[in-house]
Amino acid sequence: MTQITRITVVTGGIGGIGTVICQRLARDGNKVIATYHPSEEEKLEEWTKAQNELGLDIGMVAGDVSSAEDSARMMTEVQERFGPVDVLVNCAGITRDNTMKRMAAEQWDAVIDTNLKSVFYVTKPVWEGMLVRGFGRIINISSLNGQRGQFGQANYSAAKAGMHGFTMTLAQEGAAKGITVNTISPGYVKTAMTDAIREDIREAIVGGIPMRRMALPEEIASAVAFLAAEDQAYITGANIPVNGGLFMH
Ligand code: CAA
Repeated sequence: MTQITRITVVTGGIGGIGTVICQRLARDGNKVIATYHPSEEEKLEEWTKAQNELGLDIGMVAGDVSSAEDSARMMTEVQERFGPVDVLVNCAGITRDNTMKRMAAEQWDAVIDTNLKSVFYVTKPVWEGMLVRGFGRIINISSLNGQRGQFGQANYSAAKAGMHGFTMTLAQEGAAKGITVNTISPGYVKTAMTDAIREDIREAIVGGIPMRRMALPEEIASAVAFLAAEDQAYITGANIPVNGGLFMH
């Protein structure tokens, strides 16, 4: 099948999983644009240099996905500079882990805003164009912990579970218009986010994974590439687990 160059946006595109998703989709022939939070500006030079060394030319646009206004501005900038968006990977996410007893409203709000509200804010500006053009691929990066809950993650688990509700609804609204909308639920992936878990807890988590290791970001990117592909047009509304066997349902 001839590869069409699809305009592809990855939010959280310079993060641990996002970077590798950008690299994979760029190698697959897409024009990839990584969005990043304005506070990450100082990482840009080094990040861009690393991608260039790999022979990849990835576009960059800043924006705060937890803000409706800034997300709309960011996606307008993307579409003015690069063209209409065909593929959207909602990958931006944060953790603010704490037990319910100690969790502050600010920790709840920060995670709901960045991980859940963002998905509506970023998708909204590209959705109508996808409907009109009759093509779209939306891939929401959720989490194992949205499927089964996790001690210390009431905020994160709620947001990640909410993402899949959004996926299933958009899948129905886009199904007759050539748009597929799917969720990927990674388990524990080797990134700065999981490096931040206390060592004893991290070791206990890895010990409980049937594969006895965390995922590599490449293994998440491979699932994204599968769902983003031109000829993968019949899976929609799915929640694909990439978790080393840690949770099966
Ligand atoms: N189930 C049941 N009880 C548990 C438990 C669990 N999973 N984890 C801890 N407890 C118990 C402890 O044994 C302890 O009991 P006692 O008071 O009787 O001794 C009590 O709960 C308090 O535990 P902590 O010492 O861990 O409490 P803390 O306040 O120091 O830390 C926490 C709380 C920050 C939430 C910490 O438990 C933690 O970091 N947990 C891991 C959370 C996690 O998995 N985060 C994933 C981040 S990566 C990610 O989110 C990516 C992804 O999508 C997978």
